[in-house]
Amino acid sequence: MSTIPHGGVLKDLVARDNGISHQLREEAQTLPDIVLTERQLCDLELIANGGFSPLEGFMTENDYKSVVNTLRLADGVLFPIPITLDVSGKEISRLSIVPGSRVALRDPRDEEALAIITVEDIYKPDRSREAVQVFGADDPAHPAVSYLRKRVHEFYVGGKIQAIQAPAHFDYVALRFTPAELRAHFQKLSWRKVVAFQTRNPMHRAHRELTVRAARQRQANVLIHPVVGLTKPGDVDHYTRVRVYEAIMAKYPNGMGHLALLPLAMRMAGPREAVWHAIIRKNFGATHFIVGRDHAGPGKNSKGKDFYGPYDAQDLVTKYRDELQIEMVPFQQMTYLPSADEYQPVDEVPKGVQTLDISGTELRRRLKTGAPIPDWFSYDAVVKTLRESYPPRNRQGFVLFLTGLPNSGKEKIAKALQVSLNEQGGRSVSVLLEDRNTQESADRAAFVAAELARAGAAVITAPFDTDDDSRQAAKDTILQSAGAGGNIFLIHVATPLEHCEKTDRKGIYAKARRGEITGFPGVNLEYEEPSCADLTVDMVSQSIPEIVHSIVLLLETNSLV
Ligand code: ADX
Repeated sequence: MSTIPHGGVLKDLVARDNGISHQLREEAQTLPDIVLTERQLCDLELIANGGFSPLEGFMTENDYKSVVNTLRLADGVLFPIPITLDVSGKEISRLSIVPGSRVALRDPRDEEALAIITVEDIYKPDRSREAVQVFGADDPAHPAVSYLRKRVHEFYVGGKIQAIQAPAHFDYVALRFTPAELRAHFQKLSWRKVVAFQTRNPMHRAHRELTVRAARQRQANVLIHPVVGLTKPGDVDHYTRVRVYEAIMAKYPNGMGHLALLPLAMRMAGPREAVWHAIIRKNFGATHFIVGRDHAGPGKNSKGKDFYGPYDAQDLVTKYRDELQIEMVPFQQMTYLPSADEYQPVDEVPKGVQTLDISGTELRRRLKTGAPIPDWFSYDAVVKTLRESYPPRNRQGFVLFLTGLPNSGKEKIAKALQVSLNEQGGRSVSVLLEDRNTQESADRAAFVAAELARAGAAVITAPFDTDDDSRQAAKDTILQSAGAGGNIFLIHVATPLEHCEKTDRKGIYAKARRGEITGFPGVNLEYEEPSCADLTVDMVSQSIPEIVHSIVLLLETNSLV
């Protein structure tokens, strides 16, 4: 039955023969190595197991440019998303790699050697062009563009890989299937038609109805194929989601559906992403693929407009229909009809009939405030699971991120605020002050703040930060780790430089002026004022109690105290 893999052959680059994998592992010991990022790890897993067939490695410059400009590999095969191995200039010279070099690729979690890449080329991408072509705009409001600007290193290394082993997973092992395994599973169940459903969100009744409708229309079985690699910062964590998916599987007629997890690092590239998702599902053996409203949508751009139209993804998949050879099942927005107690796509709802919807934002609001979620929207078991992960606001942790020049009063404010929050009670309060001015210590502070907040603490932190990029990176860390309850507030302590310097009793400004301290914000390092502070305070026009009060009010406005 099942579909022909993209490009004709399902790649399987993992050494199956023990002798060969042993040999590769021995060789890896002798090679220079690259420790992968989390995103590269996801990409590698799907290159190696054939999820990204026909790719056999990370893209060379030829393939990369061709994909960016034409959605095709250099040989003409459709492939809409660049899959690249980015490495810093420093790493390149440390590794002293040239075309022909072999380099071991290691798992960031345990440093296990996962693969060896034979370097074909090392090239400098035009990241701004990549942003415009692939994501539609060089706008950092797009999560993948922000990632491209802040995280992606300046060189890409292209070349084929030989995989030593698949990355180890300890979570939901029984729900993880490679393309070959899933194909075998469908065969075992005698499933001839399989409609795959991509998702990165919890599923509710609308999604069950949508998938069952697709199955009915095409006389097919259903593969629920959620992404458990990287999704959009701020999404519900995958543990919670998998519990939700397991609960919802019980709501399908017996034998209709199958749940399998996909270790994909999403890019939120809307239309291009939908084409990519279709290729991946085809490689996993599905014959049909659902594309609904706003598929893989990144949200609004910096002007407050949607990056893509709600059905742009369907249009692009339609454009490449002949080459994709997996049939799209398109859906307009599924909406609830109270009079009939059922869901229907909006284009099938008769004029004048009342409909109900709860948006993602509204759902998050209800979860955060504990407001009721109606039966027509979801199932008890799903809501219960979500509520466990979203405690009421007054039990959620939060991070107050203070930014300002040295001696602007951040420390005094932090300590006074700590006292006030301790008085209030209900949460443990942590103050994390950093005096080492390095990005590394700032990253660590953000990580610790995220962990504490996730456990329900109130965290006041003032890490080293001099620009919006580093603030956004800290914010992303906190949002990603805190998942459901990612409450972070940026407070700009905007005490003017003159005042900070005049009241500096430790003499650090004088030292910086004499050149004894370098990298000193405001003196010999530029301090970029935050463009998106949640609150701005200063020590010239406000007293400490006034400042503390304004911060408490901010927390109150957000139902946190
Ligand atoms: S996505 O980033 O993976 O696309 P999500 O998990 O929300 O996000 O959506 C999964 C799939 O379901 C996408 O194809 C999306 O278009 C579709 N979808 C989600 N909700 C609806 C809805 N209410 N009506 C129609 N399609 C929907």
